[in-house]
Amino acid sequence: GLSAAAALSRHPSATGAHLRSTVALPPAFTAPLPAPSVLGPVSTSDGADRYEITQREATLEVLPGISTPMWTYGGTFPGPTIESRRGRPVIVTHHNELPVPTVVHLHGGRTPPAHDGYPTDLVLPAAWSGHGQHARSHGMADARAVVTDTRRAYEFPLDQRATMLWYHDHRMDFTAPAIWCGLAGLHVVRDDVEDALDLPRGDHEVPMMIADRAFDADGRLAYPALDPTLTGEPGVTGAYLAGVLGDVILVNGAPWPVHEVDTGVYRLRVLNGSNARHYELEAVAENGRPLPLIQIGADQGLLAAPVRHERLPVAPAERYDVLIDFGGVPVGSRVRLANRLGTGRTADVMQFHVVRRGARARIPDTLADDLPEWSRSRATVTRDLAFRAGRMNGRHGWLIDGRPFDPGRTDITTRLGDIEIWRLVADVHHPIHLHLVGFRVLSRGGAAPLPHDAGLKDTISLRPGESAEIITRFDGYRGRYLFHCHNAEHEDMGMMANLEIV
Ligand code: C2O
Ligand code: CU
Ligand code: CU
Repeated sequence: GLSAAAALSRHPSATGAHLRSTVALPPAFTAPLPAPSVLGPVSTSDGADRYEITQREATLEVLPGISTPMWTYGGTFPGPTIESRRGRPVIVTHHNELPVPTVVHLHGGRTPPAHDGYPTDLVLPAAWSGHGQHARSHGMADARAVVTDTRRAYEFPLDQRATMLWYHDHRMDFTAPAIWCGLAGLHVVRDDVEDALDLPRGDHEVPMMIADRAFDADGRLAYPALDPTLTGEPGVTGAYLAGVLGDVILVNGAPWPVHEVDTGVYRLRVLNGSNARHYELEAVAENGRPLPLIQIGADQGLLAAPVRHERLPVAPAERYDVLIDFGGVPVGSRVRLANRLGTGRTADVMQFHVVRRGARARIPDTLADDLPEWSRSRATVTRDLAFRAGRMNGRHGWLIDGRPFDPGRTDITTRLGDIEIWRLVADVHHPIHLHLVGFRVLSRGGAAPLPHDAGLKDTISLRPGESAEIITRFDGYRGRYLFHCHNAEHEDMGMMANLEIV
């Protein structure tokens, strides 16, 4: 048979294949940018803030006038945003009223292993309660997989730098379709370091979950293979194998929205919540002049100093905290946020409409001074890890060092507190994510890191054929964690491994 790499080359893009919507799509820049709702705690006593989220089906109006059934956290897409303070524990109880088992992972969270959302640590559907047989008949014979609870209290210490995290489904083999169906939301952590900087806030701080989707003629979400593990080789389409790309760009769940702004400075908190699509963002004024995107933070919080970008690449699961200054833009004109990697309509993301004058704001020259600096000489272990296509159980898959994910196998054992250098190499585009820890990028392609590699990261975008070195310290908790490709289809097709901290 064909190797996975050969199968990929039959498709137009090595990073994925397009799904085409068959429903009529709306014109760009007409839908207002939604602000994801902020969830209120149900209690704030006993030293923790407690929240409740019901995972349920909901029919949402994503495209104007069209009904789209989705899987949701609390009935919305994106799910509700949780706002918290560094070091203040948060307990989120998830109730599963969906028809499928789920797993919640707080991406970027410094979370003990029991609450990190291991892919077989399931919350079963409420409709299954009392039916252990039902779980087994769905192929969950693994004892670890069979839990009786249809609700789960996830505890997050959040003893970590201020940044924007996100929570999403993480069930083994089914993460990609679950996120596609809507299981994703934001979680913002704040701290005193950030407060002292007096950054834009209130309506001048704009969370932006960018995600592509495709819709069928009835307005339902289109997706190529709902159950790749059961369909086997013929069901694993090239689109699935490479990663699923939609032709509609949503920001906070609205297609190509428009957002009214003043001539002040805005803080855009960007998450690429797409399964497989990479973006290269560029803000362009009506006169064709680019507006710099001034990066102040990375996945794991503020940089030491701002970094100006004319174009900013954003891989799946990465977050970029950027300031944009509309001060030089005439009132009444528009600024387009474009995607340089897109073609046709996927070359647009959203638009800012400058409608009034605003207060001038200062952009700080220095930001945070609490970034970890790990020198090469302090690393005790150097590991090589290859992220490449290959065969898994006789079909195409994505492998780490030649092996697909196995929840029963420990791939790497590391000692708590050790500093390690990982040398990563990729065949096609793979955004590699480590749970629990933040890391620094030491080198890329044998040369210095790129400007957007600055700061503390939890996801690094490896471009086709590229290698990179990252350095981190495995501290926080002992136990089993994951690292994986965050192309969600690659992750489901094996590109994930276990890291045991002892
Ligand atoms: Cu968002 Cu295991 O990841
Ligand atoms: Cu994660
Ligand atoms: Cu990948």
